[in-house]
Amino acid sequence: MHTPDLFGAAPVADNDAPDHAPDHARMLALRQTLHHHAHCYYVLDAPEIPDAEYDRLFQALQRLEDQHPQWRSPDSPTQRVGGKVLDHFSPARHAVPMLSIRTETDTEASGAQAFDARIRKELGLGEAEEVAYVAELKFDGLAINLRYEGGVLVQAATRGDGEVGEDVTQNIRTIGQIPLKLSSTPALPVPDVLEVRGEVYMRRDDFEALNARQRARIAAGEKGEKTFVNPRNAAAGAVRQLDPAIAAQRPLSFFAYGLGEVSPVLPPGTDLIATHFAWLQAFKAWGLPVSEHAAVVQGANALVAFHQRMGAARDTLPFDIDGVVYKVNSLALQKQLGFVTREPRWAVAHKYPAQEQLTTVQSIDVQVGRTGKLTPVAKLAPVFVGGVTVTNATLHNEDEARRKDVRVGDTVIVRRAGDVIPEVVGVLLDKRTGEPPVFTLPTTCPVCGSDAVREEGEADHRCSGGLFCSAQRKQAILHFAHRRAVEVEGLGEKLVDQLVDSGVIKTLPDLYRLGLTALANLERMADKSAQNILQALEASKATTLARFVFGLGIRHVGEATAKELSRHFGTLDAIMAASVDELLLVQDVGPVVAASIHTFFAQPHNREVVEQLRACGVRWDESTPGHAGPKPLAGKTFVITGTLPTLSRDEAKDKLEAAGAKVAGSVSKKTSYVLAGTEAGSKLDKAQELGVPVIDEAQMLQMLEADT
Ligand code: IVH
Repeated sequence: MHTPDLFGAAPVADNDAPDHAPDHARMLALRQTLHHHAHCYYVLDAPEIPDAEYDRLFQALQRLEDQHPQWRSPDSPTQRVGGKVLDHFSPARHAVPMLSIRTETDTEASGAQAFDARIRKELGLGEAEEVAYVAELKFDGLAINLRYEGGVLVQAATRGDGEVGEDVTQNIRTIGQIPLKLSSTPALPVPDVLEVRGEVYMRRDDFEALNARQRARIAAGEKGEKTFVNPRNAAAGAVRQLDPAIAAQRPLSFFAYGLGEVSPVLPPGTDLIATHFAWLQAFKAWGLPVSEHAAVVQGANALVAFHQRMGAARDTLPFDIDGVVYKVNSLALQKQLGFVTREPRWAVAHKYPAQEQLTTVQSIDVQVGRTGKLTPVAKLAPVFVGGVTVTNATLHNEDEARRKDVRVGDTVIVRRAGDVIPEVVGVLLDKRTGEPPVFTLPTTCPVCGSDAVREEGEADHRCSGGLFCSAQRKQAILHFAHRRAVEVEGLGEKLVDQLVDSGVIKTLPDLYRLGLTALANLERMADKSAQNILQALEASKATTLARFVFGLGIRHVGEATAKELSRHFGTLDAIMAASVDELLLVQDVGPVVAASIHTFFAQPHNREVVEQLRACGVRWDESTPGHAGPKPLAGKTFVITGTLPTLSRDEAKDKLEAAGAKVAGSVSKKTSYVLAGTEAGSKLDKAQELGVPVIDEAQMLQMLEADT
């Protein structure tokens, strides 16, 4: 399987070229050094030298190899890219078939329980005896067999039909994470023949960057370029690229998780590598990337816990997974369990609900948001994706809708990951029938008929109707009544629709003029519920300046800015009277935000709304700026993660901010503390990695009391 013809002669020993012995030694040393640094960079993600130094060493090696072409060798770091363009891939017969594994589709714990029950039955185990498993992630890429002979990568093949795959060696060699040569150690020598199986995949950030580059190419008019629908397709396309130079530009990664042929098989009884987990450790020691999420666990309940934990972490991982895999850890037990037809009995995949599905576009509607933004929304044939039934997917704006070229009747891929709103990732063009018209946004608001305008440099079209537009009015009311704004409990979308559509409410202050009769007259509104709403409205009148300012829905003024404004100016009148220059003095307020606030309060109708709300009894404590009580945590930045024992995250945030701290969404070197509860995930890991102190709720409460 060795292919020296591709690379020139095999390396020669020193004594073949006595005059060049020092050069040869230096070349070998350079290769070794470069292998080491490539491993640090690609696999460990922890470079020890600057890129420029790596390049310098690389060029030195290239020069030596140019001077002595007879020393070229396939395992040299200089030989990753450079194969010729193929017209097809050669078949590659697998020495050991590449099997697939049984998939449990049960979403609940039963998948793991059923697997464990089968294993225990096969092995004839008693009630009290637990089996040790390795629980791993199921990476969403494509399976590859890497064949190493004498520690050198000689062939890489796809799975194919399990018996015969395709020889994709040239492309796989371009993947920086895959060692061209394994680093054997005396304690753990690499077997003469070693086949490592694993998954080639594309990280999500690499995928986004690749698509951004592709879009730029398309925009520049390059022919034959396209964007990719998801990381899996992009990875599969790259591996099956006939031109290795193109494959080299596609950022691929790899995780090792299994074995093919091994020879000589390690003598039984040496116990050197007696478990699957020990093999994973060996892979790692030899320089192959192994996921840090593989864990040895005992019994079915631990498998269930792993499934749940990884399900929760799924969206925070840097790559896509479509499930988890459970494997019996002991190789002796694996052997005893054996195979059923084409599947091992000792392993099972337990999938998560798919985050992508195919469906069709029934229509494209246009929604009007609080600030008048027109959003094209694809109405879909209902489809179960990411754990819920989806019927709508945002197309964001006209440019996006055009870029994806979504048209009515199209078959599309919808994606819903985590709590993110569903989106259309791409169209299956070959399923399009006829020539449906290209989507364009209307030039007038579909709700109120006012002109829809797109300002220069903006991606969005906006309805110019303002609060004349009932859609904007509804959204404005909902925003005002939001939990983190003035909070009117029980005032939801349905009720606001009814109130606005029936004409009972025309402006925000009308909310506080609602009477029991008007409310109770609405369809499906019981007296009791009407009373509850009136009570909630009454309770909402006692608020804070920051909540009120946020609730007004001024463009670009989010919760944090509203708090800063309230802290800085102390009174609403001062905010309303502030000039743009004065507004610019507020922390985190830039020219765009300052202009937006100033324009808002310059409108007589907005001042009128504010006055009427005050007249209706909406009130707050006004303070003198800068004297709003002690600020023991001023200058400190916190990140909150996990579930706290007594406080909700919002409550903790409010308390911290009241004490002068900032609360950020992600951990960085600038984070002062991470406040962690149970089920804390990647943010906690990041804190530990960066050495950021981690505190619990009790410690936080203590800090708040420390009056400095
Ligand atoms: S083990 C005999 N482990 O899932 C066991 N497979 O059929 C062979 N996959 O095509 C597979 N992550 O591409 C295994 N940690 C993992 C995996 C994994 C992803 C893929 C693999 C295979 C399919 C299972």
